[in-house]
Amino acid sequence: MSIKYSEPPKLNTNRRFADNMICGHHLLVKAKRGEKSNSTNETYAVPAFNVTTFQGINAAFEAFETLGSSGLLAFSNSALKHFGRGDALSGLEIASQYIETLARRTTIKVATHLDHGDYMSDGGRKVIQGAVQMLTSVMADNSTNKSLGTPTSLDENIGFTREVVNMAHPLGVSVEGELGVLAGVEDEDTQSEESTYTNPDELERFLRETGVLMLAPTIGTKHGPNKGKPGEKVKLNIQLAHELLKSANTINEDIVFVAHGASTLYPNVVDYAITQLGALGSKEQDISKWKEFVGTDWEQIQGLIGAGFCKINTDTENRQTYLAALIGALKGTASKVDIRYYDNATTKALTQSYLQKLIMAGNYGVWHEPKIDVTQFKFEL
Ligand code: G3H
Ligand code: 13P
Ligand code: ZN
Repeated sequence: MSIKYSEPPKLNTNRRFADNMICGHHLLVKAKRGEKSNSTNETYAVPAFNVTTFQGINAAFEAFETLGSSGLLAFSNSALKHFGRGDALSGLEIASQYIETLARRTTIKVATHLDHGDYMSDGGRKVIQGAVQMLTSVMADNSTNKSLGTPTSLDENIGFTREVVNMAHPLGVSVEGELGVLAGVEDEDTQSEESTYTNPDELERFLRETGVLMLAPTIGTKHGPNKGKPGEKVKLNIQLAHELLKSANTINEDIVFVAHGASTLYPNVVDYAITQLGALGSKEQDISKWKEFVGTDWEQIQGLIGAGFCKINTDTENRQTYLAALIGALKGTASKVDIRYYDNATTKALTQSYLQKLIMAGNYGVWHEPKIDVTQFKFEL
């Protein structure tokens, strides 16, 4: 096979970020190797939590510090617009400075990641360029043309992704590429009905020519709350995942895979929300939507972790926890005229949701011993 591109730039691992801020890939490669504090254990996973508010960031810090976990916080383009009063670049500045301020006083290491950035559109390019300056990791999701809603060719995907690697790697900022099409709502502008599996024949060329150390192959996961039919288990292509891992490891054992759409959705949260909605006399239509929610099976995600998927992207289940807690707080006392009361109720619930996923992923004791007994943790709303 003819190599079209010159050798890609290696990730600059000597870059020092602000206090306690760390390159996203560093957290992932530690997880793939099973490194925790001073010992080496089994592979574990790093949940990438999509944050959209300051309270969400606070909740994540609380969970990371309780468990001594890897701290990976991800921002979608729409989350950045939300932080920045409609402007993603302002959002980048505001959110990254907020996190750096908290990080100065934390007990763990924190990485910040741009989720589903693209380098094809003018707007997408500006956000990636800003993110390379202000975050510690970026996703260059060029597998779909966001304005046309169609898959890009392999050449286009490689070309755009390589441009991002050229810019980010010398600065010590890791880059995540995507190969294949993932079903579901990716962000407010992008969605696909059908997913396609990653083609193993394309994997090697993509990895060699782009130089990315983080790759999101598509193996059957889906974004959002409806990942399958109610009552049926979501099945992923774990066999393909192992085949892809074998091929990636021959190129570089530090390559880590990323599972998008990794929310499992917690049955206790769903039950709680349904009960609260019932007590509030909510529309049957809303209650039945909750009953139709289906997450990815945790056993399937565990299968992926065993196949090198050490970054598990988790958004929807935390949104559900937030919403369930808000409904519960309103049901409890909808006449309490204090924004902090509702903020505190949802932040506390988000922390529980984050703790639960970190424990499930084996992600504790990475920077220091957990401050709680993880075997006794009970997620309660
Ligand atoms: O993978 C995508 C995330 O769930 C982002 O969703 O654009 O609504 O923040 P959002
Ligand atoms: P979920 O919708 O399963 O939470 O996936 C989120 C995600 O992949 C963000 O990139
Ligand atoms: Zn995603």
